[in-house]
Amino acid sequence: MLRRPRRNRRTATQRAMMRETQLTTGHLIYPLFIVDGSNIKDEIASLPGNYRFSLDNLLVEIEECLTIGLSNFILFPAVNENLKDKTATYSYDPNNFYLKAATAIKKQFPECCLISDVAMDPYSSDGHDGLVENGKILNDPTLPILGKMAVAQANAGFDILGPSDMMDGRIGYIRENLDDAGFTETGIMSYTAKYASAFYGPFRDALDSAPKSGDKKTYQMDPANKREALIEAELDTAEGADYLMVKPALNYLDIIHLLKENFELPIAAYHVSGECAMLIAAARNGWLDYKQAMPETLLSIHRAGADVILTYFAKDYAKLLRGSEN
Ligand code: PBG
Repeated sequence: MLRRPRRNRRTATQRAMMRETQLTTGHLIYPLFIVDGSNIKDEIASLPGNYRFSLDNLLVEIEECLTIGLSNFILFPAVNENLKDKTATYSYDPNNFYLKAATAIKKQFPECCLISDVAMDPYSSDGHDGLVENGKILNDPTLPILGKMAVAQANAGFDILGPSDMMDGRIGYIRENLDDAGFTETGIMSYTAKYASAFYGPFRDALDSAPKSGDKKTYQMDPANKREALIEAELDTAEGADYLMVKPALNYLDIIHLLKENFELPIAAYHVSGECAMLIAAARNGWLDYKQAMPETLLSIHRAGADVILTYFAKDYAKLLRGSEN
């Protein structure tokens, strides 16, 4: 045999030398849930190890992450039901605790990268990402609401905004609104290919944000489609997105690869709540080794082409990496 691929796998040093993909903590974004109040750290039943934090406890959590090199966070608000309405007015209310929290976080930790989610669902009494009328999700009337929400978030100090609503034309609309308000440096990480997936369950539990009726299939993409992701990516690129995101990640590795091959913008992948919950459940049952399966999972998303990964495992991965670096 002239060719023996095993020769390059013989020792740990040689394996390290030919390793094609490396995932550092700098590539990760940690999703965090915030709730109004104080002294709250409420575990999410369907996503063990993740919590709804009040600001005081969230600041402690962020500080802990920063000390292990994890400095990118995406923040989601769990909003009290009585503050929700049809037009999501609380989303840009100056008294909104989520906006005030962002300002406080950036003041205390200016070095962190703080990312927001732009969509109506946490604030909508209908639990939808857009405006609902007679059971229909209206596209164009939703845009001004998203625009106001985006400017309020930029004003609060968020570094990057993540429109997750899948309305047509919202990236360009938000970009223009931001620029007009003077926020030319605020980035947009667009949820470009966001699928109507069953894997968002634990997230909706965390925010109590499930649709009150119907589903999200008229705006989120059909899991059967791949070429359609190219259309979304072309539009978002033309409209001024700074990142293109694929969501979920694991069942959509082909989409991540497709966008990476066809677009120059950095590609993000959202390793969503349900995907993380599955692994946590298997590990808790003793069916999988978390410390091995978790990094293998994240590596596969990175190898498929994601430059950046949003994952509930970010903190554990950062800890693991530090352990092995010592
Ligand atoms: C809201 C939003 C969702 C997620 C991120 N932003 C839920 C949804 O679209 O219903 C899901 C994230 C996760 O499951 O971890 N627009």
